[in-house]
Amino acid sequence: MTKQIGILTAGGDSPGLNAAIRGVGKAAQGYYGMRVIGFRDGFRGLAENRTQQLGGDVLSGILTIGGTILGTSRDKPHKMVIGGKIHDMTDAIVENYHANHLDVLVCLGGGGTQKNALRLKQNGLNVITLPKTIDNDVALTDVTFGFDTALGIATESIDRLHSTAHSHHRIIVVEIMGHRAGWLALGAGIAGGADVILLPELPYDVNSVAEAIRNRVRGGKKFSIVAVAEGAIPRELAEQQTAAQHLKENATNKDEKKKARKALEKLEQEHRGHAIQLGIHLEELTGLESRVTILGYLQRGGTPSAGDRLLATRLGSACANLINQEVYGVMVAARGDQAVPVALEEVAGKRRLVPLDHPWIEAARHVGTSLGD
Ligand code: F6P
Repeated sequence: MTKQIGILTAGGDSPGLNAAIRGVGKAAQGYYGMRVIGFRDGFRGLAENRTQQLGGDVLSGILTIGGTILGTSRDKPHKMVIGGKIHDMTDAIVENYHANHLDVLVCLGGGGTQKNALRLKQNGLNVITLPKTIDNDVALTDVTFGFDTALGIATESIDRLHSTAHSHHRIIVVEIMGHRAGWLALGAGIAGGADVILLPELPYDVNSVAEAIRNRVRGGKKFSIVAVAEGAIPRELAEQQTAAQHLKENATNKDEKKKARKALEKLEQEHRGHAIQLGIHLEELTGLESRVTILGYLQRGGTPSAGDRLLATRLGSACANLINQEVYGVMVAARGDQAVPVALEEVAGKRRLVPLDHPWIEAARHVGTSLGD
């Protein structure tokens, strides 16, 4: 029987999503003779049965295009806001899966998507996922597609900031995405030659950052580039967060738990705009003028790099191959040149952070980059 595949993209958009849709779709339709349909806007489109035909020429000419032709959303199957209220849409999703005669649902997404896909697996659906995110924080895969493109954009941005920082003898703090992981800031910071790199994995001491900048001034360099991951936090905040987290985990009743949750939310709130606060603080501590650049969504937009197109195409085609063998309930992970299936139970709920003994960290230290610790 001809297999029928459903495909959706979920979570933040990322360069390489279209290359992956094309990789799965062309291999499944052209090579294995399966049928493929798309669902619009992530799990919401599946819950609302909004389909998109992916046959004919639809998959041609999309390899180089950024974003996702299917649209995306951060909706979760079991917690969807409809008419201002949260609804569990799992039953509707299961119904639409069967109404469309699907043999398998392919979900392209990051850490959240792996968890949502696992929930659907636990509700009896055949699912298979691909790891996508500029943050590179999905567990058990070497790399995620989207990361290489964002790394290139962030590196080029640091290059451009260098010349202006140098000309004006300024500190430039550049905030780089990555959620709670430091891969993007570390990679771009090293490749762009940032003088200071601050990561979520290594809470920083602002005085140590200021001292590194003053040292450069003593050595005749009156400018500095500080690459700060959006999730990087000063030591004091890290200690407060750990304490609040401890209270939450050890709460003996609902009230205590609520209080601890509120404390964590407040700390999160205070952290917003921290790159700007850091710029002001460094100006006070060093006497140098400072400026802040937040790269934001520029890092997620535009045409995917050659590396991401290649990765998305090979994982996409491996996905079609696994479907042909009826290997379901897995994420297609990148391991060296291979694509290997990993059970969703092993991936879901885990985050891949930068290990403190990672060679990139060692290399940064060896070339004299301050990590603010
Ligand atoms: O996961 C990708 C990412 O761009 C993170 O780096 C960032 O923290 C987050 O998404 C931003 O999310 P949103 O698109 O919901 O603002």
